[in-house]
Amino acid sequence: MMKIAILGAAGRMGRMLSDMAPGACLEVVSRVDVADGYDREWRPETEGVVDFSHHTAVPAAIARAAAAGIPYVIGTTGLTPCEQAAVDAAARQIPVVQSGNYSLGVNLLLELVKRASSALGAAYDIEVVEMHHRHKKDAPSGTALMLARAAAEGRGADLDSCAVYGRKGDVGERPRGEIAIHALRGGSVVGDHTVMFAGDVERVELTHRAQSREAFAAGALAALKWARGRAPRIYTMRSVLGFED
Ligand SMILES: NC(=O)c1ccc[n+]([C@@H]2O[C@H](COP(=O)([O-])OP(=O)(O)OC[C@H]3O[C@@H](n4cnc5c(N)ncnc54)[C@H](O)[C@@H]3O)[C@@H](O)[C@H]2O)c1
Repeated sequence: MMKIAILGAAGRMGRMLSDMAPGACLEVVSRVDVADGYDREWRPETEGVVDFSHHTAVPAAIARAAAAGIPYVIGTTGLTPCEQAAVDAAARQIPVVQSGNYSLGVNLLLELVKRASSALGAAYDIEVVEMHHRHKKDAPSGTALMLARAAAEGRGADLDSCAVYGRKGDVGERPRGEIAIHALRGGSVVGDHTVMFAGDVERVELTHRAQSREAFAAGALAALKWARGRAPRIYTMRSVLGFED
């Protein structure tokens, strides 16, 4: 059994990962968290790390994994450019899987959005709407950004130059080509995402609703097993699922 460490082990995802690891033939040897009663560092025999903690924790942890030469799966979202640079640097030494969403359904949705965007073209306005529970700290969700990027790619556009995050005030008419992203928060919603293609005479809506965090935990654990022994680089969940090289 592969010996693994879970970062953010006291959190919603961390507890789910701990519960599900044995069923995935993984032995949890370290439960790392800043909360009382948890490990502060992972044990030396650790053979792989799953990180669902806080973005500020990522740079130091992934540098440690790079020094130890063990694979690293990042579920934590909301990384700053500087924190992401630390991930990129570590991925020169170890296999890293990084995804804003580890569920099978969302990764399939990414493919569908890209195809729909390519087929419908710029005459259809694209709006991405996500909703999560009231405890989620970053906005918009990493998944909403992935979906918006897939939509932009489908029509050959660069998301950074056409993205709008929410609207307020006298924003004027909607320009062609804009991709807007909206974040709703409330209650206990695990994660809903809709990509809307609004044309003059019809509207297409592609929606995914996560019903349990198990969808993410199962994918992240599968990703860690998959990453073991791979060449150093950043892989996405789409690679793990065989959607891309
Ligand atoms: N990629 C995905 O599929 C996916 C799915 C769900 C959540 N997430 C992301 O995973 C992260 C955790 O989500 P959650 O809902 O479990 O949050 P949470 O707040 O319930 O848990 C986070 C845990 O990390 C711990 N933590 C904070 N700083 C730490 C540090 N420096 N070292 C170790 N542990 C630390 C906290 O004490 C807490 O127990 C968030 O970034 C969230 O957006 C990603």
